[in-house]
Amino acid sequence: MKALVLSGGSGTRLRPFSYSMPKQLIPVTNKPVLEYALENIRDLGVTEIAVIVGDWAPQISEALGDGSRFGVRITYLRQDRPLGLAHCVALARPFLGEDDFVMYLGDNMLPTGITDIGAEFRGSRPAAQLVVHKVADPRAFGVAELDADGRVVALEEKPEHPRSDLALIGVYFFTSAIHEAVAAIAPSARGELEITDAIQWLVGQGARVRASEYTGYWKDTGQADDVLDCNRRMLAEITPRVAGDVDANSEIIGPVVIEEGARVVRSRIVGPVIIGADTVIEDCHIGPDVSIDRDCVLRSTRLADSIVMREASIIRVPGLHGSLIGRCASIGPSDHGASHSRLVVGDHTRVEVAA
Ligand code: DAU
Repeated sequence: MKALVLSGGSGTRLRPFSYSMPKQLIPVTNKPVLEYALENIRDLGVTEIAVIVGDWAPQISEALGDGSRFGVRITYLRQDRPLGLAHCVALARPFLGEDDFVMYLGDNMLPTGITDIGAEFRGSRPAAQLVVHKVADPRAFGVAELDADGRVVALEEKPEHPRSDLALIGVYFFTSAIHEAVAAIAPSARGELEITDAIQWLVGQGARVRASEYTGYWKDTGQADDVLDCNRRMLAEITPRVAGDVDANSEIIGPVVIEEGARVVRSRIVGPVIIGADTVIEDCHIGPDVSIDRDCVLRSTRLADSIVMREASIIRVPGLHGSLIGRCASIGPSDHGASHSRLVVGDHTRVEVAA
């Protein structure tokens, strides 16, 4: 079996981050979302992986390299425009050949893993095996309608009136039968070649299309609040480890990871918290539910339920909560001791100030 990971697209819902980085590289517990996908694929025993990339190709290939760090081999395939999930399959056809494959959307988190569903697919090799999850409001997703035996009878992409509560959650197992289906469909009203249409075509041809319900935690990390939710969920599983320096005037409570070269001085850290390598924390209250990436500086700050990306600095901010702070961002008092606040804020940024 091979794997096809989709990491193109524009990710406009994650503005302003999507102006400077692909959403698939947003860090959850200091690790890009895309790495979780690669780990789940590797756990299936699949090592030949094609990654579809768009304009952010250089950042993605810099982050993942040739895959050897994860024990896999990565081939990058360039998609010039996000023309749809089925377009990605067509683009990867020469790489996939006649092999079975798993298609994995690079912005979806399924921390419980997909090995059971992979084994089910390998055991019975239906033309397609979809992974579905019960959601309260399925209108933002592909929705599958199943019969009593788990056979898919109909599919719809982002329906206004969903006929079931089973959303497609970004993982699809296919045999090579999908290629004929992709070749047979036309672009949808939004101009994309939809994978749901291709699968529906298979259903219409009488092919065996099955769905398995994933019951663990799942998140499409398309929006800031989803990323924070996911971060909280993954922080709950960290194994405490202190490799950095904690001075005698600091207090560490609960599960906390402090990476090599990090320094905690006169601070209180309430886990779950991760502090990345070479980050400096002085006179702060941090946590719970915080991940701070490498090479950051935080001084005289209180921070909870947040993600701070690498090389950011936060100085003298007394109450930050539920925040997503980008790479190299700097938040702190005016250089000139002015009594007013000054903001240099990028397009589509959201700043909420305490009233
Ligand atoms: O998250 C699950 C949902 O993902 C499913 O329920 C839907 O059926 C499926 O269509 C998809 O919907 P989204 O609107 O969330 O898709 P998005 O545009 O976010 O793309 C999903 C991933 O695929 C993302 O990592 C970007 C990548 N992508 C997307 C397109 C359209 C590509 O690499 N190329 C593309 O052309």
